[in-house]
Amino acid sequence: SILIVDFGSQVTQLIARRVREAGVYSEIAPFNSAAEAFARMRPKGIILSGSPASVLDEGSPRVPQEIFDSGLPILGICYGQQVMMEQLGGTVQQGDSGEFGLAFIEIQDGCVLFDGLWAEGESHQVWMSHGDKVTALAPGFRPVAVSPGSPFAVVADDARRYYATQFHMEVVHTPDGAKLLANFVRHVCGLQGDWTMAEFRQAKIREIREQVGSGRVICGLSGGVDSAVAAVLIHEAIGEQLTCVFVDHGLMRAGEADQVVSLFRGHYNIPLVHVNAETLFLSGLAGVTDPEAKRKFIGKTFIEVFEEEARKIGGADFLAQGTLYPDVIESVSFTGGPSVTIKSHHNVGGLPERMNMKLVEPLRELFKDEVRALGRELGLPDIFVGRHPFPGPGLAIRIPGEVSKERCDILRKADAIYLEEIRNAGLYDAIWQAFAVLLPVRTVGVMGDYRTYDYVLALRAVTSTDGMTAVAFQFPGDFLPRVATRIVNEVRGINRVTYDFTSKPPGTIEWE
Ligand code: XMP
Repeated sequence: SILIVDFGSQVTQLIARRVREAGVYSEIAPFNSAAEAFARMRPKGIILSGSPASVLDEGSPRVPQEIFDSGLPILGICYGQQVMMEQLGGTVQQGDSGEFGLAFIEIQDGCVLFDGLWAEGESHQVWMSHGDKVTALAPGFRPVAVSPGSPFAVVADDARRYYATQFHMEVVHTPDGAKLLANFVRHVCGLQGDWTMAEFRQAKIREIREQVGSGRVICGLSGGVDSAVAAVLIHEAIGEQLTCVFVDHGLMRAGEADQVVSLFRGHYNIPLVHVNAETLFLSGLAGVTDPEAKRKFIGKTFIEVFEEEARKIGGADFLAQGTLYPDVIESVSFTGGPSVTIKSHHNVGGLPERMNMKLVEPLRELFKDEVRALGRELGLPDIFVGRHPFPGPGLAIRIPGEVSKERCDILRKADAIYLEEIRNAGLYDAIWQAFAVLLPVRTVGVMGDYRTYDYVLALRAVTSTDGMTAVAFQFPGDFLPRVATRIVNEVRGINRVTYDFTSKPPGTIEWE
């Protein structure tokens, strides 16, 4: 395995992801508990992450001496390079300008990291983000690549198997970065690269058992992939100590609530409390038109219903959540200052404190596509695992204005036709999210010899990698007209269909 020492970079988890992609198990340990993790794990190699800190600051983090004394290979990235140099006898200084963003490095010499990739004299794109820089190498190191802003863009000490880069190889903007990392873990550390999701599953099962002991766990299912994968994994670990609660707010898409219930009860035989709270949610939403008011009402009511169910089953010691890594980053402000709330996201935050529960979050280090791979590994059906993300407040935020049962039903029918056509055209997996929005606007139409005066429906489909930015999907020529015709013909209450071409930013993916 590989130990990743985390100095607090925003992208440390990406290092772990790249190591997993190279087929090697890794763990991340914060720098101040890295010595314990090192003793426990007995890794075959160490990676030192970047950091918002400067090695020149007093009290800035350092690498535990045991790691240097161990004789194991080390790879330092950005701050990781600087801290290595500082501790091993080189010099780091504040640069006059720093390098931020894309840069090109010149390869000056051969290096095992470049195996099968880069050769002397070539120039390659990398991604830099640093103010300080190394100005003198520690004894034993030689420079192997240079960039305009760093004479030591890549350095190597082959005798000790120490390597370090000023740039970030873990981000996609360094196109060959994943391969450089794979060269380190395989060629330098000698790891096979045969680790798989099956082993992740086993490791997490052990971890969950250790954390939970004989405690009771309650898990809220949202109907989405993340909470379902978390619940199935936890059930495999602790069986009947887990109770799943599905608060069904009646704002799901057509058929999706039933799919969750039959997956858990039928396919897995996992005990599930299915609370049908449609009336409660819809009556509370009556007259509410402000998007934030809808979101807040749904979030609060969800917690109340969940708490009541938790009390009924006699409480729990732990709350399980399908939190993913991007949820963790999104909740941290990049600037360190207060960030503006664009939308109050619905989750069960606040519950653990109110109910005095600890959290079990087995997916915390994974990215969406990795959760899907784990879901497949756990035997979840493809149709479930591949589902597009669906927001916690459900259809309520896809009906601008007032939400009613009638409007939800109209939207569900139209949305189902749209998705059926997308699946039939083989486009579902090419799209990040596709859905319909029912507008509270009526327009005039003509059907047969009759005048109609019905709602407008907007169709939306976007591509995205993480939901943070998005671009409208371009359907092939006859697709949208065909869907529009079907919807107007088959769904009573809609007589006009439009398509939303807005990117995010400036738009958001959901309409509210
Ligand atoms: P926006 O609309 O902010 O959405 O561009 C970005 C992504 O987040 C999803 N979304 C939510 N997910 N609870 C969730 O779990 C929410 O309250 C929520 N609101 C938006 C949205 O579907 C998209 O994938």
